[in-house]
Amino acid sequence: MGSYGKLAKRALDTEMPVMVKMQELLRGAKNAMSLAQGVVYWQPPKQALDKVKELVWEPSISRYGADEGMSSLREALLKKLREENKLYKSSVVVTSGANQAFVDLVLTLCDAGDKVVMFAPYYFNAYMSFQMTGVTDILVGPGDPETLHPDADWLEKTLSETKPTPKLVTVVNPGNPSGTYIPEPLLKRISDICKQAGSWLVVDNTYEYFMFDGLKHTCIEGDHIVNIFSFSKAYGMMGWRVGYIAYPSDVEGFTEQLLKVQDNIPICASIISQHLALYSLEMGPEWVREHVKSLVKNREIVLEALSPLGDSSVKGGEGAIYLWAKLPDKFINDFEVVRWLANKHGVAVIPGSACGCPGNLRISFGGLTESDCRAAAERLKGGLEELVKDGMVP
Ligand SMILES: Cc1ncc(COP(=O)(O)O)c(C=O)c1O
Repeated sequence: MGSYGKLAKRALDTEMPVMVKMQELLRGAKNAMSLAQGVVYWQPPKQALDKVKELVWEPSISRYGADEGMSSLREALLKKLREENKLYKSSVVVTSGANQAFVDLVLTLCDAGDKVVMFAPYYFNAYMSFQMTGVTDILVGPGDPETLHPDADWLEKTLSETKPTPKLVTVVNPGNPSGTYIPEPLLKRISDICKQAGSWLVVDNTYEYFMFDGLKHTCIEGDHIVNIFSFSKAYGMMGWRVGYIAYPSDVEGFTEQLLKVQDNIPICASIISQHLALYSLEMGPEWVREHVKSLVKNREIVLEALSPLGDSSVKGGEGAIYLWAKLPDKFINDFEVVRWLANKHGVAVIPGSACGCPGNLRISFGGLTESDCRAAAERLKGGLEELVKDGMVP
């Protein structure tokens, strides 16, 4: 025992999480500023945090709760789903964040060996969740070269011609890593194609409130559709770990199978975190929208910093907290560029290769206040100017 060969192939054959690689890189690059991690700079609402402080001695906080989540929180979420997302026939299970929700769904809906579909550039953690559960036949569809929207024609052809038919299709709206928003007609078309083929559609709505330029996020509902949501970014609750799944109430057995998985991973989401989620929800979506508004300036600052790459190289960013930028052709090894930017210019971004698209960068504009974002963007611009002009000069 004790050899590398004894470790599980399911783990060995799964990509390394890019954030772990980035954390290592940042430890080596002293004082680097991060435009890498997908986080927001704000904390949860103060009123909600104050109320939660009062609760710590309550015995129920330290006990297990219902697997599906606290009933008061679930009721509030069902109301929110009806009023804001127009989801009327969905049931809710509260999870320890949207990532855990996704693993729950892969284990509930897919078997090892099933084919599944994602679109490039894809959300790396979703890709890894498939890999580590034995769902290794991952078909990655193209995005439109201009808009980065998922290519629905490709999906239609792939779902009708691939045998066995892919079990599940997943999209993120608006997207991580691109910040691309999927317009409602396209989302509906994707849904119709999945329904016709008999495939599940899982939509990750982690950034539902993060919409810019007057665009409006929409959800869709159906017996083949599952929606995922998160408190992490909207309410600055990354470390509290709360998300939820809205799944079709009419599908027989869904709840029972989902709760088997839920009971074996977190049992229940942290109880104190669920209370914070409920108090935060009471602040209403306006609280979130006000905070999201403050990111418009950050996006503008980062856009300007990317200008050395040329306007046509920068895409996405209509939603979420990301911009997506293509490096000049000769820099296909984007991790080298990322390392160089961190070590020489003191700024960290994510390599596109982690999302299935080498030669690109994902830049996050959510994690820094405007003045810090400006400082980080200045470093990024300096680095990109040098990269384009002279290459990666040591
Ligand atoms: C698309 C997407 N889904 C899920 C998550 C993870 O969210 P949570 O903190 O709720 O697990 C992230 C975080 O970056 C994300 O970007």
